[in-house]
Amino acid sequence: MALKVTVTSTKGGVGKTTLTANLGGLLADLGQKVLLVDVDVQPTLSSYYPLELRAGHGLSSLITEGLVDGIVSRTAIAQLDLILSDDPEGMLQNWILHTPDGRVRLKHILTRFDETYDFILLDTQGAVGPLQDSAILSADLLVSPIPPEILSAREFARGTVQMLDRLRPMAFLGAPLGPLRGLIYRMDRTVDARRIAQELCREAYGPSKGAITILDTVIPNTVAYREAATARVPVHRWEPQRQGPTPSAREAMLALVFELFPHLADKTLECEGAQ
Ligand SMILES: Nc1ncnc2c1ncn2[C@@H]1O[C@H](COP(=O)(O)OP(=O)(O)OP(=O)(O)O)[C@@H](O)[C@H]1O
Ligand SMILES: [Mg+2]
Repeated sequence: MALKVTVTSTKGGVGKTTLTANLGGLLADLGQKVLLVDVDVQPTLSSYYPLELRAGHGLSSLITEGLVDGIVSRTAIAQLDLILSDDPEGMLQNWILHTPDGRVRLKHILTRFDETYDFILLDTQGAVGPLQDSAILSADLLVSPIPPEILSAREFARGTVQMLDRLRPMAFLGAPLGPLRGLIYRMDRTVDARRIAQELCREAYGPSKGAITILDTVIPNTVAYREAATARVPVHRWEPQRQGPTPSAREAMLALVFELFPHLADKTLECEGAQ
């Protein structure tokens, strides 16, 4: 059965797509069969990795027609597949809004991929809307990158909790919310960033408090993440090691994967050092 993980944030530009792509690439190199789903009208995840096979259909056909054949594209990374975003006009938002079971459709259709994949990773748009809702409701686990500036930390506490509280009643429609893991993301080595991270870990989050935890792993702000995106390779391959106190992308991403998915702790990288 595939574990569904949705990367979400009510704020744009925080690193969701980068994180989703790199999580997918690392999980695949750890021997997992992974399906990425680009649930964003701006198809950034769709073009993150080179494609070996481009399917004729994508997310729209999946959601509106329940199409599962001819919908999965294959990336150049072994074991890493992708459902493309194919909704440049943003029609899906409206369609979901006006379809009675719109928001829970994606969740139900994705179960058709349960036997084929170990992980399904969904990337979302940095806003609130019916399409984002449906990605959130599809997830067993939510991961939310939080840049350690005060505004982002506050936005996380306010926006994310509001979003979760609003969607919580969907449990009555068979779509209970998965727990949310906040990930301190793009951390730089300044005192201020560390203080904010500590504050965030301590803060209370109202009714959703028990469902939100902040991960111990921190992803640093380094140029490797941008360089790897430009080179179109997973960042753990791009930066296997580095000098100094900041962990390499390989160390940081491995720590994240093992913290999120402890059952993978005995797995080792199959493409050690490959670029
Ligand atoms: N750990 C990191 N360190 C430094 N830069 C990073 C890191 N992760 C991502 N970036 C850069 O931050 C920018 C935004 O990242 P990304 O596109 O992943 O954000 P997003 O949340 O998906 O944005 P949107 O809301 O527009 O979809 C990109 O230029 C990316 O290369
Ligand atoms: Mg994005």
